[in-house]
Amino acid sequence: MAVHVVDHPLVRHKLGILRKDSTSTSEFRSVSNEIARLLIYEATKGFSTEKHTVQGWAGPVEVEAISGKMVTIVPILRAGLGLMDGVLDMIPGAKISVVGLYRNEETLEPVEYYAKLARNIESRLAIILDPMLATGGSLIATIDILKKRGCRHICSLNLVCAPEGIARVQAKHPDVEIYTAAVDSHLNEHGYIIPGLGDAGDRIFGTK
Ligand code: PRP
Ligand code: URA
Repeated sequence: MAVHVVDHPLVRHKLGILRKDSTSTSEFRSVSNEIARLLIYEATKGFSTEKHTVQGWAGPVEVEAISGKMVTIVPILRAGLGLMDGVLDMIPGAKISVVGLYRNEETLEPVEYYAKLARNIESRLAIILDPMLATGGSLIATIDILKKRGCRHICSLNLVCAPEGIARVQAKHPDVEIYTAAVDSHLNEHGYIIPGLGDAGDRIFGTK
């Protein structure tokens, strides 16, 4: 598994806004989607294109179109919804597969409560969306769900990751690539990423 830290001044600047505790809910939402656009730009760099000819204003012109990629994005409820609009801005035709998980606050284990996947998931690239990769439990559970349904091409977009979570995902699903704005220092005793952003779901939904 490869971890791609998208190290770009715009990403670093925007992540700084998210880390600030006084950032408002509306700004947190819009900046999360802005970073999502930058992460998906990196995550789609390997897409192949095919040339074809269209009628341009000055006659026929050769152009390129993305070929052979059927995409489903997989927001993990609820915080993953906070990255969805940014990704859909770039891939408007993507089908949406929704997985509902929450972390049991004591065991930190993910509890599944919903899964509605796109049709033909086995032939799609699944792009999982979740702002936080902490212990890795939620991401591993989502990849398990996708693989059980035959999905073979999976990557993950996360705003912030903990090294502990990356190691767990890497051990269980070495084929899954992660695109992130930052790999932070560590998890605290409650499974929160330090320095992190706090509770991403609460900050996106205004339930802090
Ligand atoms: C948060 C976050 C991830 C998960 C990460 O969700 O959005 O889904 O925790 O933690 P993990 O890597 O240790 O599994 P949470 O359970 O708080 O639910 P929410 O999105 O509904 O707020
Ligand atoms: N979930 C969050 O929202 N934040 C963390 O730091 C860890 C899990």
